[in-house]
Amino acid sequence: MGISMKSEIEGRTALVTGANRGIGKAIVDSLINHGAKKVYAAVRSLEKADSLVKKHGEKVSPVLIDLNKPESIKAAAKAATDVDLVINNAGILNVCDPLSESTIETFKEELEVNVYGLVRMAQSFAPILENNGEGIFVQLNSVASLRSFADFSTYCASKAAAYSFTQALKDKFQEKGIAVISVHPGPIETDMAKSIGMEGEPVSIVSEDIIAAINCNRQHVFPDSMAKDFWSTYQPFAEAVVEG
Ligand SMILES: NC(=O)c1ccc[n+]([C@@H]2O[C@H](COP(=O)([O-])OP(=O)(O)OC[C@H]3O[C@@H](n4cnc5c(N)ncnc54)[C@H](OP(=O)(O)O)[C@@H]3O)[C@@H](O)[C@H]2O)c1
Repeated sequence: MGISMKSEIEGRTALVTGANRGIGKAIVDSLINHGAKKVYAAVRSLEKADSLVKKHGEKVSPVLIDLNKPESIKAAAKAATDVDLVINNAGILNVCDPLSESTIETFKEELEVNVYGLVRMAQSFAPILENNGEGIFVQLNSVASLRSFADFSTYCASKAAAYSFTQALKDKFQEKGIAVISVHPGPIETDMAKSIGMEGEPVSIVSEDIIAAINCNRQHVFPDSMAKDFWSTYQPFAEAVVEG
């Protein structure tokens, strides 16, 4: 008989941004399936969490977060003081090459959500994660954090910046006893992938690999087959230089 290992998720109180669809929704499902006590489903309007509440009952607690609205992040942090796991998943992708007329405007939009949103989430929830102990902060980055794709160049640049901040947060959070995990999917079957004509792999591949990474203390998550290809060459560099 094997020794049963307690999941690191058991009994945790999590908060997930962009929880109403795509990867975020799968993360909520996985957290609850792996024993989370409560998940704050952060959405841009409360009724967007209706189907999650219907599915999981009182374990799901809807809360308003629009990453474009710093006040909404502060208000959520005031309400969700029991959180010990934050998963910043919400993000946007625009199709825009670097020579387009709208490159700068488009980039600003993505910076606001994908980068400033991350910084604001980290700043608002750091004291809570520190205070509750054994805190974990998970950031949804991308393979596009490591390699640009010209037709959505501004998204890639925003995800590269988000990964850079994730590394800085890892160092600063370490002093506070908070672990940081950086997630780098390739194409995953969501509205975002559809919007650029990609099919992608199932959302549960990402959410289940995040759970596995939490359980075994992994700093990087490269969940799907394209991501794994990236990791096979990036791993030695990441382990020697980034994770250190
Ligand atoms: N799908 C992929 O292939 C892929 C690959 C690599 C990385 N990622 C990353 O994974 C994360 C989730 O992607 P996804 O594919 O699940 O995207 P998605 O299907 O487009 O869903 C995006 C989620 O983010 C929310 N959101 C958008 N703007 C927001 C804002 N200003 N404030 C708060 N929430 C906002 C959306 O809420 P509404 O419903 O209200 O719009 C939605 O819940 C993103 O960070 C993305 O960059 C995705």
